Amino acid sequence: MKGDTELTEKILSLKRARNAVILAHNYQVGEVQDIADFVGDSLELSQNAAKTDAAVIVFCGVHFMAETASILCPDKTVLLPDMHAGCPMANMITAESLKRRKRELPEATVVCYINSLAEVKAESDVCCTSSNAVKVIESLNTEEVLFVPDQYLGHYISTKTGKKMILWNGFCPTHMRIQPEHIVELKQEYPQAKVVVHPECTAAVIALADEVLSTGGICRYARREDVTQMIVGTEIGIIHRLKKENPGKKFIPASEQAVCPNMRLITLEKVLWSLEDMNPEVKVPEDIRLRAKTAVDRMLEIT
Ligand code: 13P
Ligand code: SF4
Repeated sequence: MKGDTELTEKILSLKRARNAVILAHNYQVGEVQDIADFVGDSLELSQNAAKTDAAVIVFCGVHFMAETASILCPDKTVLLPDMHAGCPMANMITAESLKRRKRELPEATVVCYINSLAEVKAESDVCCTSSNAVKVIESLNTEEVLFVPDQYLGHYISTKTGKKMILWNGFCPTHMRIQPEHIVELKQEYPQAKVVVHPECTAAVIALADEVLSTGGICRYARREDVTQMIVGTEIGIIHRLKKENPGKKFIPASEQAVCPNMRLITLEKVLWSLEDMNPEVKVPEDIRLRAKTAVDRMLEIT
């Protein structure tokens, strides 16, 4: 552990020297969460990025999250400690494929999940995250919505809002690993436990849940006094924060296989190297940034 303490001290001192802030997603490994200035869900992280005074943002998450910070803060240096930390779901749609679909659906309002490339946000009318998706869709006074890229989140929102939604066929491979049988078996083993799942899960899993929440929502729900045991249907990195904030409560992963390999690519060493080298940097080209920002700003105004 001495190594980790030395690493942490180096990171914290370089962070001060560079006037940097470290933002970490709830799925990050425990030691990365523990050195972060702020840990949260996609919406909370983008709101934090938008208001920080720091000159440098070290984004411990995946590429689309760092891109969102770059969209909101063009004058800041946004570092992603491993450039390979992408999101497979975000890569399931490109600006070109979206443009083709828009030509087939000229009347539709395009809503893109924040888990998307900046070039896709630039082709969208408004963005949303898992925590504000229902609110964003409800705010639209259009008949037809084209929702990209997550078909499961899109389907879940359609059940909540009654809107006619045309869905892209994207999905999160990590959340696909959570199967209804896992929940059924765990409910038998822990009958007192609340079942809380992320809306990227399939409809069959969502149907078995007591609550469907963003990662930030899951963390808030866990603090409730009436919750003592929770079956957690999302990426297992969140268990670190849940246990840390709620000692004495029991958190049971719906599936130990629900691991996002991309989130795991960020390590303490890479955080240090990124601050030393001021690299790898994520910077969205200005023409794309300006168009993408319109969709992100519209979301932030609604939220
Ligand atoms: P949240 O916005 O709920 O943190 O979700 C992000 C994500 O990538 C889920 O897989
Ligand atoms: Fe993308 Fe799924 Fe990983 Fe979230 S958990 S970053 S949606 S691959």
